[in-house]
Amino acid sequence: MQKKRHLLITGGAGFIGSHVVRLFVNKYPDYEIINLDKLTYAGNLANLKDIESRPNYRFEKCDICDFDAVCNIFRKYDIDGVIHLAAESHVDRSIKDPFTFAKTNVLGTLSMLQAAKTYWNNDWEGKLFYHISTDEVYGALEFDGSMFTEQTKYNPHSPYSASKASSDHFVRAFHDTYGMPTIVTNCSNNYGPYQFPEKLIPLFINNIRHHKPLPVYGKGENVRDWLFVEDHAKAIDTIFHNGKIAETYNIGGFNEWKNIDLIKVIIKTVDKLLGNPEGTSLDLITYVTDRSGHDLRYAIDATKLKNELGWEPSLQFEEGIEKTVQWYLDNQEWLDNITSGEYEKYYDEMYNQR
Ligand code: NAD
Ligand code: TYD
Repeated sequence: MQKKRHLLITGGAGFIGSHVVRLFVNKYPDYEIINLDKLTYAGNLANLKDIESRPNYRFEKCDICDFDAVCNIFRKYDIDGVIHLAAESHVDRSIKDPFTFAKTNVLGTLSMLQAAKTYWNNDWEGKLFYHISTDEVYGALEFDGSMFTEQTKYNPHSPYSASKASSDHFVRAFHDTYGMPTIVTNCSNNYGPYQFPEKLIPLFINNIRHHKPLPVYGKGENVRDWLFVEDHAKAIDTIFHNGKIAETYNIGGFNEWKNIDLIKVIIKTVDKLLGNPEGTSLDLITYVTDRSGHDLRYAIDATKLKNELGWEPSLQFEEGIEKTVQWYLDNQEWLDNITSGEYEKYYDEMYNQR
């Protein structure tokens, strides 16, 4: 039997966090899982409807920047493990509003670390602060077959990646300075159910359905590595339980796609599942002004995780993308609830600026 844990998951109402919460609540009925989330525009408790009344699940609405409130939650639940996902996560928003990213991602992470340090009071036995980060901290690659490894030097370009890089440094500094047991993982682009539809894949599925333009930045030649979100959650579970303290693990899908090729797969899949003739929605592709500082290529080498902890992606991309498209088509109400109102105004403004 697993030892009882009191696990604080931050950002659990967001995209990846909700999958992590669901996996832990289902897999570890003896753990107490506390989901701490501020419920920003990206946080949505509807993502957790299926597990919200489970006896091992609690929700606390809280801002990670509010140090006293976070300390109270550590005390209230006698927290011994943290999986920290709460963050501002969208590059385009970070270009418009870098301060919010510095505040949440840097100062918010520092507040979490300081609260853990205060509550744990140098008794590190059985404790873990596990920080979830991104491959974007490594910067951009050329089209030369190279990949990011755990040794790649940080070279962030966007305010988002700069803020995540800074938060990673703070986590490692808390290990090196105070001896806090920490782990950092850097993952590639996730896709799957419950992703906020400002990100490429859900945005394009929704736009195709509503016959709206598909804004392709630049020439669509940028490359990203895509991982199904449930595989990321499984990697987080593996690393939380078996990872080595003070280590960094890269997590990726070994699945690189040029944006325009990926977009054509999305179009083909949506058209097929909607019963449209192949090619129907191709003319929605609209080339727009490129994102400033748009990183050319990300590619993650997850060999260390595979060799040391035995994790590898379980889902083939074709299967993952079909599952994902089907999920968004089946969950139009979920999409409508978040794409109406404020978000619709924000999106139209962003789109019209391009
Ligand atoms: P998301 O934007 O969908 O969710 C973020 C969650 O954090 C939301 O529920 C939001 O309400 C919460 N949050 C934001 N600010 C907060 C605050 N001040 N206090 C408390 N809660 C707050 O993000 P996501 O895509 O699920 O990403 C989760 C984490 O994984 C982030 O740290 C991100 O950097 C990292 N990551 C994401 C990807 C990806 O492809 N989405 C890839 C690698 C790493
Ligand atoms: P995104 O989902 O925002 O993730 P990230 O910027 O963190 O990689 O974007 C994925 C890729 O798709 C990225 O190269 C930018 C591009 N993109 C578009 O071409 N059009 C869009 O409307 C969006 C949101 C992204």
